[in-house]
Amino acid sequence: MQDPVRRHHIDLQDDPILPVSKRGKALLSDPLLNKGTGFPDSERDAFGIRGLVPPQVVSIDDQVQRVMENFHRKDSDLERYIHLEALHDRNETLYYRVLLKYIRELTPIVYTPTVGKACQHFGHIYRRARGMYFSAGELPYFTDMVHNWPEPEVDVIVVTDGSRILGLGDLGANGMGIPIGKLALYVVGAGVYPCKTLPVLLDVGTDNVALRDDPLYLGERIPRLADDAFFEVVESFVTAVQSRWPEALIQFEDFSNNHAFPLLERYRDMVLCFNDDIQGTGAVTLAGLLSALRVCGEPLSAQRVLFFGAGSAARGIADTIVAAAMAQDGLSLDAARHLIWMMDSEGLVTQERLDRLAPHKRDYAHNEPPAQDLLDVIGHVKPTVLIGVSKQPDAFSEPVIREMHRHTRHPIIFPLSNPTAKAECTAEQAYHWTNGAVLFASGSPFKPVTVGGRIFVPGQCNNLYIFPGVGMGAVTFRIRRITDQMFLAAARTLADQVGEESLAAGRLLPDLGAIRELSARIAVAVGEVAFNEGLTTMKRPPDLLTYVKQRMFYPSYVPYEAV
Ligand code: NAI
Repeated sequence: MQDPVRRHHIDLQDDPILPVSKRGKALLSDPLLNKGTGFPDSERDAFGIRGLVPPQVVSIDDQVQRVMENFHRKDSDLERYIHLEALHDRNETLYYRVLLKYIRELTPIVYTPTVGKACQHFGHIYRRARGMYFSAGELPYFTDMVHNWPEPEVDVIVVTDGSRILGLGDLGANGMGIPIGKLALYVVGAGVYPCKTLPVLLDVGTDNVALRDDPLYLGERIPRLADDAFFEVVESFVTAVQSRWPEALIQFEDFSNNHAFPLLERYRDMVLCFNDDIQGTGAVTLAGLLSALRVCGEPLSAQRVLFFGAGSAARGIADTIVAAAMAQDGLSLDAARHLIWMMDSEGLVTQERLDRLAPHKRDYAHNEPPAQDLLDVIGHVKPTVLIGVSKQPDAFSEPVIREMHRHTRHPIIFPLSNPTAKAECTAEQAYHWTNGAVLFASGSPFKPVTVGGRIFVPGQCNNLYIFPGVGMGAVTFRIRRITDQMFLAAARTLADQVGEESLAAGRLLPDLGAIRELSARIAVAVGEVAFNEGLTTMKRPPDLLTYVKQRMFYPSYVPYEAV
């Protein structure tokens, strides 16, 4: 029998009492239902738990305190990650309560940068399966396999093939840490129900030979599939999940960019999906940029934006900036694209390289002579905005940053590469080398920096600001397709939430502590676009914000009734 606890939010009761069929050890072993020492006496009797847990009934707040005491006793971030994941596997309500309360401190553990380390060591720190694995060798079984998932409803699927994990490259099946972490952020950030999330790893092999040779590696020990076979696996996966959960949102995550773009093109008009590395990154970076422009008092159309790195993130951000410049400053597509310059591992992306360029770079090729060196390009292009998405640490050297400052009063510099060790420069460097004039945001978090007696709080261009709200909007308002306009609306909503005080401290993105409110507003913005464009299958509720907030999961122990 299906425990109705997994559906209880649909009832929207103020004080729901959940009918639960499990008892004793089975109840304590179900992470979605377990309360551990939090079971009150009445439930210990009703569910045969008396004696199976220590006699003291502990409040959830005291349980949170115990978790954090243990957390602080660990001596490395990887150990802290393992500690939190163990809790995730034991008691999800408590896990999310802890995450929600300590979101600023714990996001860098459950997500970047620590999740990168967890993925690198995945086979070694593995305790227990979470999510689903679809491997190339099991392709004929995909449609049957989806029925092995115990939950009847799935709202959000995050799927990766582990081919481009953060800035760490091909980690094969070890990439599973990413969908797990992202979905935890969906729950904590936007209140998606934990039981309605599904992390997925598509195992299509790995070209990481060291991993294939590691005896504790858990994936298929084969080289990555050739393109045709790869796309067949993805197609079978999409068909399989659609056959069971036709309305579920599929978030493509950390696919190498030779596959990320074609996948998005193929599926964006076919199923409810998006690519976070392309579209989510675009939206959060645009939000940071819009905040920076409030400080300089300049329009988007007056900027020259140089991307160092021309992969998925660069293309996603560039397209979002272009869409915004067209929508709000009235530029033509050509004029908007002209604001953007890109450099990749071979130098400036120019017309002269056109036949050798990957398709996603071609729209941004300028008619300029070749140039290899970042410093030269800055001297020539005189960008007002420099965005690092190259995974090349230290690429934004002191001369580079000083050159940016030489021609711009407030250079906007966003070293976005993750994890921290891959960042093109640190916050400390950017603030010091510009004497505090830089408008800065990074991919991984940095601590506040003091320059000339002023304290600057670096903002983090964390996709966490965008994807949970977009996903929550999509599932709450039964949206059929995710469009670029929705990401644009999300970016504007996010930028609008940055207060003057925050800007004065140099923080271009809001405080993460307000993530639930931000996500609710982004969900509404996405819903508005969908209702205006006829992209939902439901009738418009009178008050979208209340409608979303009522449907957010809040991690607390609700009373159980034995059935
Ligand atoms: P990608 O692999 O698609 O692109 C990397 C690009 O860097 C390629 O165009 C490559 O040619 C270029 N590159 C490599 N070496 C270079 C060099 N020496 N000089 C100039 N360019 C060079 O990777 P993707 O998805 O675009 O991600 C890039 C970085 O951005 C990663 O570290 C990722 O973690 C980070 N990122 C950060 C986000 C955020 O902060 N919100 C979101 C998405 C990605």
